[in-house]
Amino acid sequence: MRTITWIPGDGIGPEISDATISILKAAGAPLEYEFAYAGGTVFEKEGTYIPEKVFESIEKNKIALKGPIETPIGKGFRSINVELRKKYDLYANIRPIKAPGPIPLKFENVDFILFRENTEDLYMGWEEKISENEAHSIKVITREKSERIVRAAFDYAKQFGHKKVTVVTKANIMKLTDGLFLDCAREVAKEYPEIQLEEMLIDNMCMQLVIRPESFQVVVTENLYGDILSDLGAGLVGGLGLVPGMNKGKDIAIYESIHGSALDIAGKDLANPTAMVLTACLLLDDIGEKECADRIRKAIEKTLSNKENYTKDLGGSLTCSAYTKKIIENL
Ligand code: NAI
Repeated sequence: MRTITWIPGDGIGPEISDATISILKAAGAPLEYEFAYAGGTVFEKEGTYIPEKVFESIEKNKIALKGPIETPIGKGFRSINVELRKKYDLYANIRPIKAPGPIPLKFENVDFILFRENTEDLYMGWEEKISENEAHSIKVITREKSERIVRAAFDYAKQFGHKKVTVVTKANIMKLTDGLFLDCAREVAKEYPEIQLEEMLIDNMCMQLVIRPESFQVVVTENLYGDILSDLGAGLVGGLGLVPGMNKGKDIAIYESIHGSALDIAGKDLANPTAMVLTACLLLDDIGEKECADRIRKAIEKTLSNKENYTKDLGGSLTCSAYTKKIIENL
């Protein structure tokens, strides 16, 4: 049994957490959960967004599965997600973009993995209001952090036999910051002569992804571009309810899906739990329980092979709990 920290989160977090736990239980996943609560609901009760015991639990267990946590838009406190990623130096945000079952899509054979630098860039939070009519934000790119995310992408490509890694920047305009990231990619690529480095500007990348998404296998980029490309990628394979993800550092990993707290559907039993379940599968892979993870993935694939099992985001009518039951039946 492996004990992990479980953070249900805000909005749809608690619903998809319950769904995920019942699927893991039905699959016999050898996990024990230490629940830790962070986010808006905790703030109302405890006056803090991340109580100390959340950090203690993560530091003890080293592995956490986290639901979405809300961040106020344009005002209020800084993102708890960003804080956790920075505190534990979870430098690699890794997101496999692939449909989890035979759902009808505009594109076939989309199957790439995104490596997003997770600790710097415009996410430093270094913003300054100059006047009522002017504000600045500082973008930070360092050699050390750029090289390690590029290396993570190349190591993955090497491990899984991919012949190409695509690096995405806007180095034609941000010549110093994105220029440095690109230089690092070129340097690191020399260590992997069998793998081609493909260079792409972010605007062109967006177009290429909606024209020939099947031509990408491993994509590495900075924090902001990675955030945007993740949602774009999710849109190519059926939506945010389907795509898992993970944040990895040296000793600690926090597994979380791409999507946010989806307040528009929270508390209505409408959320698609697939992304969180697949995120738990990535966690199982990493602790040596791939067989269990694959059984869950197969059950999802089978469930999605029948259109009657679709949740609302996929154009169907099943609730989150009814869909969860179907997956458990198919396990
Ligand atoms: P969002 O991902 O919450 O929702 C975007 C759209 O996708 C909404 O229409 C929502 O209903 C739908 N959606 C998302 N997940 C779904 C699921 N599992 N099943 C069905 N439909 C789903 O993004 P939004 O609205 O931009 O952000 C809402 C809040 O979430 C914000 O406070 C934001 O800061 C936070 N957020 C948190 C993240 C995290 O904790 N890692 C990541 C992204 C956003």
